[in-house]
Amino acid sequence: MARKRVAVLISGRGSNMQALIDAARAPDYPAEIVLVLSNIAGAGGLARAATAGIPTAVVEHRKFADRATFETELTAQLRTARADLVCLAGFMRLLTPGFVEAWRDRLINIHPSLLPAFPGLDTHARALAAGVRLAGCTVHFVRAEMDNGPIIVQAAVPVLPDDDEDRLASRVLAAEHRAYPLALALVASGRVRVQGDKAVVGDHAAPDGLLINPADGR
Ligand code: GAR
Repeated sequence: MARKRVAVLISGRGSNMQALIDAARAPDYPAEIVLVLSNIAGAGGLARAATAGIPTAVVEHRKFADRATFETELTAQLRTARADLVCLAGFMRLLTPGFVEAWRDRLINIHPSLLPAFPGLDTHARALAAGVRLAGCTVHFVRAEMDNGPIIVQAAVPVLPDDDEDRLASRVLAAEHRAYPLALALVASGRVRVQGDKAVVGDHAAPDGLLINPADGR
């Protein structure tokens, strides 16, 4: 089966983007990264992508009058790259319902919490303040509401007694770097089905520490 063509959208350092690029180097990985696009010209991830030999593009949202015209240019870039799937990896712009709907079940996001807990910003500070004992990350299909949509993969990590925001963030980030490549592989290989609000995965056992909804309910 042809590998799915994936565009990765970033706003910052791009460590999750790098995890996807690294995973896609394996010859049997079902996706290839064909474009890294940033809405911030100086995003650190752009240099990392270029080093990896991936084409990059910048579409600066601040140069557009509104979200719709920004997204028209985004769409043009995605079309030119012939992207089948789009992965948001620390892309810190809200997308309009029109854009999200056009990419329904082909647009994936990673968020550093066990959704639906702690959507939005400052997730780790809020998790620590709430005293939760389990933190983690979620890879999900994007829906119009922020940090919402069918969950493809989750990974949980413990909150430890001496955690501060940075320590917790780096433990969660390590889990993100395992969860995102798995989620993209599952989607790209056609194993993920959306049933109502749920994503279920057929014919796959998740590696240790990564959680999916098996299609057969096991
Ligand atoms: C990651 O922790 C990602 O989960 C988060 O931004 C960070 C980006 O880091 N995304 C969100 O908060 C989206 N709501 P990275 O640039 O090193 O991948």
